[in-house]
Amino acid sequence: MTLPPSPEGALTEAMAAIAPPGVRTGCRLIGDADEAHLLPEEARSISARQPAMRRASGAARWIAHRLLADIGIGNVAIPRAPSGAPTWPDGIIGSLAHDDDMAVAAVARVGRIVSLGIDVEPAQALPDDISAIVATGADRTGAADRLLAGRILFCAKEAVYKAAYPLDREILGYEDIAVDLDAGRATTKTGRKVRLAYCVAPRVVVLAFVGE
Ligand SMILES: CC(C)(COP(=O)(O)OP(=O)(O)OC[C@H]1O[C@@H](n2cnc3c(N)ncnc32)[C@H](O)[C@@H]1OP(=O)(O)O)[C@@H](O)C(=O)NCCC(=O)NCCS
Repeated sequence: MTLPPSPEGALTEAMAAIAPPGVRTGCRLIGDADEAHLLPEEARSISARQPAMRRASGAARWIAHRLLADIGIGNVAIPRAPSGAPTWPDGIIGSLAHDDDMAVAAVARVGRIVSLGIDVEPAQALPDDISAIVATGADRTGAADRLLAGRILFCAKEAVYKAAYPLDREILGYEDIAVDLDAGRATTKTGRKVRLAYCVAPRVVVLAFVGE
């Protein structure tokens, strides 16, 4: 008998299928003791955060440490800068995200892609009041699953923000990002063009990337 894939196994496959060449992704169900995966410099950089956030940050960094080790970069800290953005080793770009249960990370060597963003969300409809804040007339959700379109849009805007911030240092609101899901593109109010790829099962994950 073949067992169904675990939530982590299914999401690992789904993310690998949407990642552009050279971008490595991973996920981890957040565990009660995941704060222990923070390296000392990382723990210091988020010392003021709530325990649940520290666990989520520890889970995300556990993934990122492994992804970096896979490309030969071992035992390197990814502290959180005062802006909130993670600080990557020289020559590396990446992004982290967590929902209540799952953490995800994406990393790559700087190359044709010069910045990355990722976000993860449960595969559930976005409440109407939040949709009203997130969606604008400039957004196009096209052929996306109708139930999940608002959630994908929300996830896309957060991923775009994380990819754009390290380049532009601009704080953006939802209204500052126009998304076209079918085209796999977004544009920020600063004119930054960002590419998008997404999956919806077993969770909504959007990868945003700047470059070719
Ligand atoms: C970046 C932001 C959108 C993340 O949203 P969130 O729901 O709090 O958390 P997520 O799980 O999706 O992502 C958290 C990760 O984002 C990353 N992050 C935070 N600020 C970032 C920034 N300015 N640039 C890039 N990445 C950032 C961090 O790695 C963080 O993980 P960590 O705390 O473990 O280091 C939010 O923290 C923020 O800065 N918001 C202000 C602007 C905004 O909300 N605009 C509307 C959306 S476009």
